[in-house]
Amino acid sequence: MALGRLQGLAVQTPGLAAPAPAPRRVTILGSTGSVGCSTVDLLLRDRDSFTVEALTAGANIDLLVQQALALRPRFVAIADPRCHMALKQRLAGTGIECAAGPEALVEAAERPADWVMAAIVGAAGLAPTLAAIRRGAIVALANKECLVCAGDLVLAEIARSGATLLPVDSEHSAIFQVFDFTQPETVERVTLTASGGPFREASHAHMAEATPEQAVAHPNWDMGAKISVDSASMMNKGLELIEAHYLFDLPEERIDVLVHPQSVIHSMVSYVDGSVLAQLGTPDMRTPIAYALGWPRRIAAPSPRLDLAALSQLTFEAPDLQRFPALRLARAALQTGRGAPTILNAANEVAVESFLARRIGFLDIARLVEQTLETLQGGQVGDLSDVLELDREARAQARQHLIAGF
Ligand SMILES: NC(=O)c1ccc[n+]([C@@H]2O[C@H](COP(=O)([O-])OP(=O)(O)OC[C@H]3O[C@@H](n4cnc5c(N)ncnc54)[C@H](OP(=O)(O)O)[C@@H]3O)[C@@H](O)[C@H]2O)c1
Repeated sequence: MALGRLQGLAVQTPGLAAPAPAPRRVTILGSTGSVGCSTVDLLLRDRDSFTVEALTAGANIDLLVQQALALRPRFVAIADPRCHMALKQRLAGTGIECAAGPEALVEAAERPADWVMAAIVGAAGLAPTLAAIRRGAIVALANKECLVCAGDLVLAEIARSGATLLPVDSEHSAIFQVFDFTQPETVERVTLTASGGPFREASHAHMAEATPEQAVAHPNWDMGAKISVDSASMMNKGLELIEAHYLFDLPEERIDVLVHPQSVIHSMVSYVDGSVLAQLGTPDMRTPIAYALGWPRRIAAPSPRLDLAALSQLTFEAPDLQRFPALRLARAALQTGRGAPTILNAANEVAVESFLARRIGFLDIARLVEQTLETLQGGQVGDLSDVLELDREARAQARQHLIAGF
């Protein structure tokens, strides 16, 4: 549905040949993170095409100030209210307004940028992302947890406001680039590729002893801690499966997952005539971010270029659902509906945080998610308060299991 709207815009844009209005005014929610920094990097390479309305961070004042001085946004917001005074002092005399707390993030999203990068990690990004959607902005969505925990709500708000959602996840950007939105009925299935993460070939025993350092050491991508752990458990691919369901309006059984350790083919679309279209590139988020930043036109990105001869081979294998049960749990949650994806996401956030704090083992992540899904009834997730309430309940339930030593 989101891309139905997108299709409308794309078709109305004359030949897609007209230059995008310049300069485009942008906001980055989560500018200090991995995706945020890649977006900042692209903006700094092309100062004439973009102006910056707002930047936000969780608590990293140093980097936020550095980015603000380089990009000169009108407004910066930081989630941690304890950082407010220091941020104010550091930006005194610059003319850049600043604010702190969760409501300041929503204010950043509400300010009049044409294009908003949603790159806060986790459900914490939901309220600001919805605020940007509600005022009809073009929203580049990195924060997949938003669609997982509140997919129906996000799509309903897009339909109401006329906002445009552009996928940033490399897999969904790949599908977006090769999906024929003029004849969606000819799409048989989509295939999300997965690197397999650092434990692709690890034994169950090794995974049981895995440390946070080992789990975040992704073989191909340089990412934030949470998504790196999600990639190691393959929960990331499970979240992406749910994300693809909402973005491309496809049922779960028409979304495949294929392990492709080289991360060169970023995903594929299979058509009724037997054709399979794929998008390829080196694993550098600046390519899918640039695709969204310039959309509907392509803009330059400095990502390393693909050298297939040097790579010499691309390999593929089916995911191992015994060692990576998170993928099975996510698929089941999508089938179940009634808030199950919201519960899955919240329990996973609690589990990953606990693993990173060394309170639980790596294999406990999926166990905790499964137990939380088993003990909590889903329910209505029609509006934001329903989603937030179910998210809160699921976190409380997961923590209860942790205390009980599940
Ligand atoms: N990294 C990738 O390559 C990649 C690829 C595809 C999709 N994604 C998705 O993009 C999102 C961001 O990933 P990332 O790897 O960039 O994460 P990250 O490096 O951990 O950065 C997260 C950003 O969110 C901010 N933040 C953290 N907690 C917050 C809170 N409670 N309230 C407000 N802001 C908060 C962080 O601020 P501080 O820096 O101050 O903590 C930072 O700016 C995730 O949803 C991820 O799944 C990432």
